[in-house]
Amino acid sequence: MKRIATDEVQDFEIEHQNIVRKYAPESMVLLKNDNILPLNHSGKIALYGNGARNTIKGGTGSGDVNVRHFVTVEEGLEQAGFEITTKNWLDQYSKLKADYVKKFKADLVTKAKAEGKDVWGATMGVTPLEPDYDLDLSSSSQTDTAVYVLARDSGEGADRHVERGDIKLTKTEVHDILSLVKQYKKFVLVLNVGGLVDLSEVKDQVPAILLMSQLGSATGNALADVLLGKSYPSGKLAMTWAPIDQYPSSGNFGDINDTYYKEGIYVGYRYFDSMNIIPLYEFGYGLSYTSFKLETEAVKADSKKIELNVRVSNVGNTAGKEVVQVYYSAPDAVMDQPYQELATYAKTKELTPGEEQVLNLTFNTNDMASYDQENAESILGNGDYLIRVGNSSRNTKVVAKANLDQDTVIEKFKHIGGKTNFNDFVPNEKTISYPSEAEEIANAPEFSLQSKDFEVKENHYPKPTFNAKDNDKQIDWSAVINGDETVEDFIASLDNETITYLLTGNYEKGKSLFMVGNAGATVAGSAGETTHQLTKWGVRSLVMADGPAGIRLSTSYTLDEKGKAHALASEFGDSAGVPKEDYKQENTTTYYQYCTAIPIGTAIAQSWNPEVAEKYGDLVGAEMQLFGIDIWLAPALNIQRSPLDGRDFEYYSEDPLISGLNAAGITNGIRKHPGCTTTIKHFAANNQETNRVYSNSVINERTLRQIYLKGFEICLENSEPLAVMSSYNLLNGVHTCNRYDLLTDALRNEWHFNGFVMTDWLVTSSFISNEGKYTCASAAQDVATGNDMTMPGLEEDTETILKALRSGELTRADLEIAASRILKVVLKIKTAERS
Ligand code: BGC
Repeated sequence: MKRIATDEVQDFEIEHQNIVRKYAPESMVLLKNDNILPLNHSGKIALYGNGARNTIKGGTGSGDVNVRHFVTVEEGLEQAGFEITTKNWLDQYSKLKADYVKKFKADLVTKAKAEGKDVWGATMGVTPLEPDYDLDLSSSSQTDTAVYVLARDSGEGADRHVERGDIKLTKTEVHDILSLVKQYKKFVLVLNVGGLVDLSEVKDQVPAILLMSQLGSATGNALADVLLGKSYPSGKLAMTWAPIDQYPSSGNFGDINDTYYKEGIYVGYRYFDSMNIIPLYEFGYGLSYTSFKLETEAVKADSKKIELNVRVSNVGNTAGKEVVQVYYSAPDAVMDQPYQELATYAKTKELTPGEEQVLNLTFNTNDMASYDQENAESILGNGDYLIRVGNSSRNTKVVAKANLDQDTVIEKFKHIGGKTNFNDFVPNEKTISYPSEAEEIANAPEFSLQSKDFEVKENHYPKPTFNAKDNDKQIDWSAVINGDETVEDFIASLDNETITYLLTGNYEKGKSLFMVGNAGATVAGSAGETTHQLTKWGVRSLVMADGPAGIRLSTSYTLDEKGKAHALASEFGDSAGVPKEDYKQENTTTYYQYCTAIPIGTAIAQSWNPEVAEKYGDLVGAEMQLFGIDIWLAPALNIQRSPLDGRDFEYYSEDPLISGLNAAGITNGIRKHPGCTTTIKHFAANNQETNRVYSNSVINERTLRQIYLKGFEICLENSEPLAVMSSYNLLNGVHTCNRYDLLTDALRNEWHFNGFVMTDWLVTSSFISNEGKYTCASAAQDVATGNDMTMPGLEEDTETILKALRSGELTRADLEIAASRILKVVLKIKTAERS
């Protein structure tokens, strides 16, 4: 850890900004290009739209990163040598928007007060709809090129709106875009959004559409590079884009009590393909400045794996990268199946015109199994499995079929997640097809799979136990570090109250941490910390800071005589519970922590390149080490069930494979830095923000396992995060942090997770206001079910746990088990620091 006592730009800031600038184009998705892009040269350009100057680098809430500065579109274009001819329009827009937002916020506060609501809770994440206005569109000097940047913002605490000004374009936006298309020879619509905007009203008329997304610190520079062809977009959508009423979740979203996931496994393209609905832009879609040819050269299939070699040739005129996507279609012998599901994918290196690369893609044959919720087993049904290869979900060819002779059970489980009172949706429409599909299926090379070659895996569900030697003296933590004593023996030497401290964040007697996003003491602006109560025996606290779009810290701070960091800047001025006196300490040194904002989760996923995720993880890991952060409260990998979820931008995809691989990529990048780890969150089924702490996700077990838990499982198979954050929501009537089946049976017994589980902030307190029928979670049940730490540290939580111990609801062993999981992570992190 280094304390930086100067406000001057540091080398690492420039280096990290450059890394974001270099990789950001991999996340941009070129949705349409009628020979407009790239532009030949800089020069005069007309710039319009709400994201041109007021560019969004990432959404709001705990996922926002406090940066020194980030490059807006206007700045990025100017730095690249463009002369902006519409400064007048930009000035007028900025003024009207600032006035509008000011009034909106003031009205919101007045309303909350009048209704007797907590202002913080009532305003958090509430983003105003984009207003209508009438500004002159003529540009002061001549240019034939215009760029219109359309932006949307959202964040935790509130969901998005179907209305104009959020998911739908405002009347002004539609009018201005269509007028400008006529006015300029070259017109580019740039989308500075974290999720869907319904482009139905302009899509056909606009000649070029680039989904820039929200790319963090270097947003404007990366855009300029791509517009000028110094770089090129190579992203693909990781979520289907369609008019909002076409999503199967739209009728069942945002209830304050129970949200029924009736669409079952038919989320995103699994639904659109199976129901033969043409979206605006399909899953996996994205153009390039060049074009590619894909040829599947070899396929092998046996009971273990499916392996393909795909030759990708750049047959266009400029450099680019292509993503090869492999899908499978399972037979509906045993249960209904989607038209196709993503099996694996890979991105080429940069290919220059004429250059080729053969990509080797493999996946496990067992990955094509489905979960039979009647019998709690994974099963491969008999019949033909079609293997499809292409560069989007709607542009594939059947390259092989594997025939399985009999229904084959491959894994046996215990039921988890509880029950619902409905059956999941089953599509009865005809699936998509295309003219050559039948012929491709008929001619595809066939592999024969025999049931007898598969092995059945049995899961075991032991109850956790705690074993320590009899001992009545206090053990010092250094003895554990040296390997002379075990973590268990150390814990056995602590009294009940001290152990309880370990299980409740950084609680200090008489000082509850009623705050989200800023409860850490050691590092200013960190979200939380483990207890300081054990420092006398040598156990230091673990510092946790938010993400996922970089590290969320205060940009400047001072230290008091006890070494506690006090934020100076007021980035958290609107946040809950930050004592005002913490902002200013006179006559002491000021230190600075300028972190880099990386692209939002959705953008990282759009790169379809887990190596890019790893690079960003590496960058964040370096800053964690620099600023003394042990645990990053990211990545967030909830499934994008509906574009209305206010936090979708933090998440990766509608597809669990993409979610899991990106979370693993990020984790692997961070774990390159000794002593640093991630927290995969929010476990699980946290797919809406409306009444978020009290909203119940009602989900059948097949859907839960195949869609909402799968990404976490994949992440754990491919990386080693040392922490998991349970979610705010309930799952089938019980808070996830109070579900033994989720936290112990699935997470630990099935997937062998080895770290500790923490709650999301304040889920056990009624501090976050409630509009519905469910109550908050129980801190005692957290301990009983495998949620080891209740965050951020409340008096009532320690009391609840101790009371449950006295009443017999909890045993001392329950506390010890939870404490040992936390201290084993402390030990791993500490050991890593020493090596
Ligand atoms: C968010 C979490 C975050 C935590 C700590 C909560 O409001 O849901 O994602 O990590 O705050 O800031």
